[in-house]
Amino acid sequence: ANGSLLKGKKVLVTAGPTREKLDPVRFFSNHSTGKMGYAIAEAAFAFGADVTLISGPTSLPDPHGVKTIRIESAQEMYEEVMNYFHDSDIVIKTAAVADYRPKYVAKDKIKKQPGDYTIVMERTVDILKALGEQKTKQFLVGFAAETNDVERYAKNKLESKNADMIVANNVVQAGAGFGTDTNIVTLFKRDGSKKELPLLPKSEVAKEILLEICRELEAIV
Ligand code: PMT
Repeated sequence: ANGSLLKGKKVLVTAGPTREKLDPVRFFSNHSTGKMGYAIAEAAFAFGADVTLISGPTSLPDPHGVKTIRIESAQEMYEEVMNYFHDSDIVIKTAAVADYRPKYVAKDKIKKQPGDYTIVMERTVDILKALGEQKTKQFLVGFAAETNDVERYAKNKLESKNADMIVANNVVQAGAGFGTDTNIVTLFKRDGSKKELPLLPKSEVAKEILLEICRELEAIV
């Protein structure tokens, strides 16, 4: 029934973690498995959209029918996202992008020495913020992974990133967030309203997010 809701629309989805190298054998990353973002890419394809997925390292196969591009670092994700952004109608940023990376990447493996070891970290590019600044026609959806004060942080992200919707999940709630096959999310919109969804499989969460985007786009047209 939803098979043509996004027909003719270009949807760009990001998913998975990023890896920020320290030396040839070590990196910083996070617990994202890509399940939430891949579910969104699959659902968007099922809704008839032309879908591009930019993914950090995951163990998931490329979703059927979706152009999938694999990257590693936040910088690489930024560059690929920028290649597709201007042509996109809807952008959904599910990826768990590193906020910091090692400032110096060692060419050779760092050898252990007696005592403590300090790593200097520098900020990575904030992709969502850059998109919020550059958007023209795009409907921009960010995620918010929080452990506390979910509503306050989500509303703050909506404003500060100039997003059209924020999908917030409390990642310490059972059945929500990283790695699980289910999620519990609340959608925050520009008009100040919010929509709380119950515990659902990520495939269903994905459909609900897309349906809400379709409603918002209808309202705009
Ligand atoms: O992959 P799974 O195992 O299924 O887990 C799903 C998930 C928990 C990763 C997902 O539901 C989720 O919450 N994704 C967002 C994770 C995140 O990085 O949230 P954040 O609150 O740190 O970032 C907010 C938004 O800014 C996100 O849309 C993120 O993609 C974006 N961001 C963050 C940092 C950065 N440098 N650039 C960005 O664009």
